[in-house]
Parts: sequence; structure tokens; C-alpha cells
Amino acid sequence: MTSLNIEALGWTLHERGRPPRSLLHSVELNVAHGEFVGLIGPNGSGKSSLLRCAYRSTEPTVGRVRLGDDDIWQRPARWCAQRIAVVLQEFPEEFGLSVGDVVAMGRTPHKGLFDSDTAEDRQQVAQALAQVGLAAQGGQTFATLSGGEKQRVLLARALVQAPELLILDEPTNHLDPRYQLELLKHLRGLDLGIIASFHDLNLAAAFCDRLYVIDGGRIVASGTPQQVLTSSLLKQVFDVEALVDPHPLHPYPRITWITRP
Ligand SMILES: Nc1ncnc2c1ncn2[C@@H]1O[C@H](COP(=O)(O)OP(=O)(O)O)[C@@H](O)[C@H]1O
Ligand SMILES: [Mg+2]
Repeated sequence: MTSLNIEALGWTLHERGRPPRSLLHSVELNVAHGEFVGLIGPNGSGKSSLLRCAYRSTEPTVGRVRLGDDDIWQRPARWCAQRIAVVLQEFPEEFGLSVGDVVAMGRTPHKGLFDSDTAEDRQQVAQALAQVGLAAQGGQTFATLSGGEKQRVLLARALVQAPELLILDEPTNHLDPRYQLELLKHLRGLDLGIIASFHDLNLAAAFCDRLYVIDGGRIVASGTPQQVLTSSLLKQVFDVEALVDPHPLHPYPRITWITRP
């Protein structure tokens, strides 16, 4: 079952007083239900822009983004919010809100305008906070949390949204190694389609079923981590020499960047 299906997608940015810039070209990308897909590429290659098209924030200039059989741009934003959850790099300015309030916002797409929180909502919030290791922090002010804790709260908010597809833009950025691994292990266990952008290629290799490599707004490679992560591709795309060998403990490749003093 396909969760996300991106077909022949292109995006041209029109800015006032500047010539149009084509930033995404002929992108083909799929995420099946239950699959964990990674998106990797250098800074400015178009990862965030492509993810924005997938969560119905940026409308592509050409091509289609479908969730199941539906073109997400033919559906209302609320329809998408009931099915697609997003965890972004930037933290929202949730001024005085508590952690529990921020997580409860994830229920909004499933409720009427004036519905108050039900016992079931509260239970889902508590359960999601427990899942991300923050069961005791529900009453704390969101703004007082560390970067890593905020990231986990935003994941909890995405989880209570009960999505079919979860989109994460560099989800491990603010996390220390333990929480990086816990978050990714947790994501792997979820029964939904996931696409996440990564800078750390070893984490992408360890946790993703498949990877797409984007460079200059084009998908230049895709496949299993083993198929994609070769030293020649890393040289071509990232312009860095790398040793790629089988991981000594696991069935995926290991990347060691080679730097010469
Ligand atoms: N709203 C925007 N306005 C101007 N430039 C943009 C905008 N969105 C993306 N870009 C440009 O598109 C390119 C890709 O950016 P982005 O998708 O953020 O890359 P990545 O997430 O891979 O670092 C960059 O050159 C960036 O400056
Ligand atoms: Mg980005």
C-alpha cells in the first residue's frame, strides 16, 4: 500500500524583482505504509523544500503529491492535517503553553472548533508523552525545556495526531546520541509511512529502509542504504572522500569520512 506518492514534481520559486528559480526538478518518490524512508543531500539541495510540498505547505508548480489515491492539493488543509503529521527543525513560539498543551494541539485536526479536550484526548497526550520519555513533564512550560526535550514534545504532538504519514525535517538535530537512537528506534516501530531528512548518514543507514539522495533539486539516487551509500556517490554529491565498509555489528554500511590534515 502506498502512503505517499510524488510524481514528476517540480517547483519554481517566483520572488518579486528576481528571475524565477527552479528549485525542484522531476522528483519521483514513494513511501509505502510501514516504510521508513530517508532523504539525504547537501545543504541547500532541496530537502526541506521537497518535504514542504509533501505536507501541503508549498504547492508544486508541476506534478502530483498523492496520499493513497488522493491528490493532497485537491483536498482541504484539514483533510491533510488528519492524515499527515510534521516535525520541523524550528521550534514554535508557544509562549506560556505547557508541554501537555503543546502535545494536545496535535488533536486539533480531529476535533470541532469549540470541542474541549475529552478524557480520551488527555489519555492520548499522556500516552504520547510517556512514549517520548517525558511522562513527568506534562505540566512544565514548553519554553523552559532543552532543545532535545522540545524535539521530543513535538514528536509527541505529531503522534497524537494519529497520522498515516509522518514527515520529519532533520529530526535528530537537537538530540544527544542516546535520544537520537531512542527517537529513531521509536519511529521504526510505528505502523505508518515515514519520510525524514538526515544529515547524519550513519543514522540514515542504520534506521532507514530506503534512501533518496537529492542534489541540486533532483533525485540522483535511491535504494537501500547499501545500494545508495557508496564512496563514489558520496564524493559526487557531498564532495568528500569517504570509506564505506560493512558495519562490523550490523547488516548496513558504515561511513567514515576521510579528512587529510
Ligand atoms: N521560500 C524560499 N525563498 C527563497 N529561497 C528558497 C525558499 N525555499 C527554498 N529556497 C532555496 O531553495 C534551495 C533549497 O533549500 P532547502 O530546501 O531549504 O534545502 P535543504 O533543506 O536541503 O538545505 C536553497 O537554495 C534555498 O535558498
Ligand atoms: Mg533543510
